[in-house]
Amino acid sequence: MTEAPIPEIDQNTPSIARAYDYMIGGKDNYAVDRAFGDQINESLPGAQAIAVENRKVLVRAIREIVTQTGIRQFVDLGSGLPTADNVHQVAQAVAPESRVVYVDNDPIVLAHGRALLDENDRTTVIQADVREPEKILEHPATRSLIDFEQPVGVVMCAILHHLNDDEDPAGIVRYWYDRVPSGSHFFISHFRTEHNPETAEIEGMLQTTFGRGRWRDDEEIRAFFDGLELLEPGVVPTAEWRPDDIEGLSLVGKTSQQRELTVWERLIVAGLARKP
Ligand SMILES: C[S@@+](CC[C@H](N)C(=O)[O-])C[C@H]1O[C@@H](n2cnc3c(N)ncnc32)[C@H](O)[C@@H]1O
Repeated sequence: MTEAPIPEIDQNTPSIARAYDYMIGGKDNYAVDRAFGDQINESLPGAQAIAVENRKVLVRAIREIVTQTGIRQFVDLGSGLPTADNVHQVAQAVAPESRVVYVDNDPIVLAHGRALLDENDRTTVIQADVREPEKILEHPATRSLIDFEQPVGVVMCAILHHLNDDEDPAGIVRYWYDRVPSGSHFFISHFRTEHNPETAEIEGMLQTTFGRGRWRDDEEIRAFFDGLELLEPGVVPTAEWRPDDIEGLSLVGKTSQQRELTVWERLIVAGLARKP
């Protein structure tokens, strides 16, 4: 397959993918992304920890899907820059035959993703917009790696909060729901608001910088799982989603179940659900 050329990368404007990379300790970011990340951190101490926890819950969720189900193929929508423990590495560590299509609209993800994935013929990265799901579905790389007759793991980790309401994020979930067979799993993590001033401020910063960013409340986030069978423990703060790394989650020497969640731990939730 001929590979699409990599578009130029704008180093003067922050990007969601690069700012997030900075927040989780990556190196694929520019001064402008770091400045934006620092600004977020200043307004919400713990913002960086939210990003790290989000990454950790993704790893747990993929491991759960691969060990608990026969799913061996994933579409990772809004995948971000390659980092440690990417979806294919977690899945292939358990089941080497696992296949992953990474999708992101940021050209830097394509550039760095290709470098990482070059040696792995069961993974690919495509530059596409999650708001145009049919282009992702019909992309030759998706078609060649994913068999839509078999259950699929659809990963929407920290992506739906980058879609405004008028971009119909629920419709995007529904699009994939309609195209995957019974037994497919959906993993979603999302910024959560309790309608507090901190999240309103960050939402404002994201809107000003990127023209997008929406912190949703419990009811709104749960609605993304409509029609799906939500698996235990439901949609909960990521720190409480099947924690396995007691040490890592133990900020004050207790597990998240034994103590009050910190402010920032309340602001990111995740859920895993199965299509009946
Ligand atoms: C916060 S990062 C999350 C990365 C990864 N999913 C994770 O949870 O670690 C959000 C990613 O979504 C990508 N993104 C934002 N809007 C997008 C869109 N409309 N289409 C495709 N990707 C998008 C950004 O470029 C960024 O890489």
